[in-house]
Amino acid sequence: MAVFNSSRLVGKNVLITGASGGIGAATAILFAKAGSNLILLARRTDALKAVVDAVTSAHQESQVQGGGKFVAVQLDVSDKAQVAALWDKVPKELRNIDVLVNNAGFVLGMERVGDIADADIESMFATNVLGLISITQLLMRDFKARRSGHVINIGSIAGREPYAGGSIYCATKHAVNAFNGSLMRELVDTPIRVTEIQPGMVETEFSVVRFRGDKAAASKVYDGLQPLTAEDIAEEIVWAAARPPHVNIAELFVLPVNQATPTLNYRGGK
Ligand SMILES: NC(=O)c1ccc[n+]([C@@H]2O[C@H](COP(=O)([O-])OP(=O)(O)OC[C@H]3O[C@@H](n4cnc5c(N)ncnc54)[C@H](OP(=O)(O)O)[C@@H]3O)[C@@H](O)[C@H]2O)c1
Repeated sequence: MAVFNSSRLVGKNVLITGASGGIGAATAILFAKAGSNLILLARRTDALKAVVDAVTSAHQESQVQGGGKFVAVQLDVSDKAQVAALWDKVPKELRNIDVLVNNAGFVLGMERVGDIADADIESMFATNVLGLISITQLLMRDFKARRSGHVINIGSIAGREPYAGGSIYCATKHAVNAFNGSLMRELVDTPIRVTEIQPGMVETEFSVVRFRGDKAAASKVYDGLQPLTAEDIAEEIVWAAARPPHVNIAELFVLPVNQATPTLNYRGGK
């Protein structure tokens, strides 16, 4: 974290969705080390509580002056009523958000079109697309009124190139890419920044969720190659947020060195 100057993040209010694990939790820890305040959203309260403990320690150990205000909010981004009531659960001094990290998302299954459960289709769209849009709409009103803010959307390699067995997830991440691009164009005459980070394979709970808790099937995804870690992507997110205000990282496509496309990779050994 000493590789770039992150002093611009001191005292900034950063809201992260899907902050209870994986990329979201790793990102929270790096922002805490940089002296930011955090509003952490996810559905699992125990996991969120553990992240609040981790960010508190990270902030203390960093000895950075400033920041250190952390609040966890149990919230399902796919539930419009919960999103609308968000500010009731956030202390007043943290309501002016500087950076929104739209990270909550998941994939379920590898079924082919015709065999995909309606509930899976609906839940992936409800979180990955509609949830991301609801949170962005809520914050964008403030961003525009204050003429400041940064939206960082977590897209995916699946939003650049589709693959068989990923039709719904790929469709959701292509939607994120289109939303990100439209938003950036709409805001061209403002200081508000819009960024999309597009990771390739990252070893988190992502594949465990995809294979419905089957850890053996999940770990096979990474057999023979070194995937990215949640911390690798967190570094890119925090780096993008720490650029000078006139610099907008529009898109960042980040892969393990032995992955080239969703299906082309080299598994010659870790
Ligand atoms: N891992 C990869 O290979 C990879 C590659 C490209 C892109 N991505 C994207 O990166 C993002 C983070 O994934 P990850 O790899 O860190 O996976 P992860 O470890 O499974 O974390 C996903 C996070 O999203 C939260 N979440 C899921 N649905 C939610 C909802 N409806 N409302 C609020 N929070 C919700 C989960 O928390 P709760 O269950 O507590 O709600 C969890 O904190 C996702 O958008 C994913 O599509 C991942």
